Amino acid sequence: MASHDTSQQPVTFRRATAADAVEVATVYIASRRGAAAYLLTVGTDAEIRSFVIDRMVPEHETWVAEVGGRIVAVLVLDGDEVNQFYVAPADQRRGVGGAMLAHARQLRPAGLRLWAFQRNTPARHFYEARGFIAKKFTDGATNMEREADVLYEWTP
Ligand SMILES: CC(C)(COP(=O)(O)OP(=O)(O)OC[C@H]1O[C@@H](n2cnc3c(N)ncnc32)[C@H](O)[C@@H]1OP(=O)(O)O)[C@@H](O)C(=O)NCCC(=O)NCCS
Repeated sequence: MASHDTSQQPVTFRRATAADAVEVATVYIASRRGAAAYLLTVGTDAEIRSFVIDRMVPEHETWVAEVGGRIVAVLVLDGDEVNQFYVAPADQRRGVGGAMLAHARQLRPAGLRLWAFQRNTPARHFYEARGFIAKKFTDGATNMEREADVLYEWTP
């Protein structure tokens, strides 16, 4: 195995610290921009970076997934809701997201909910294949992006 090939290394999870915030912001922005066909993003990269560093990491329950000491994904829990979930583009479709969602279920064994944009078909397939059920569809009138979305719920 080449030394730079991290695909066979285990994925580990831990709470993000202030020292991680810049790397978390980089993963968050790259993942959002990489999924631009499915995720409308309000704000510039600099504004998003400030939000992640100044608000999200310090004030919210932010978890990171690491492979070989590198942050490859970020997930934020707010009560029983997953309200941010991003895998770095180069690390997608290798099982990182599934492992991180399994970690979130261990943290919230009574159940989880989350909102996805209706147009985010890759994410919707991902959630539906992992037992999440669409409970409510909206036209997006009340979300920041004004984009039709869907509420998913998982219960054990
Ligand atoms: C959705 C996401 C979190 C899944 O994480 P992941 O590490 O890629 O997921 P896994 O490797 O565990 O599972 C892959 C499955 O997800 C779905 N999927 C993920 N990316 C996909 C893509 N580009 N096209 C089609 N299906 C995709 C498929 O069901 C896939 O299964 P398959 O590879 O057997 O076809 C990740 O793709 C991501 O960060 N997307 C961009 C940001 C986003 O949409 N976040 C969710 C907001 S609600």
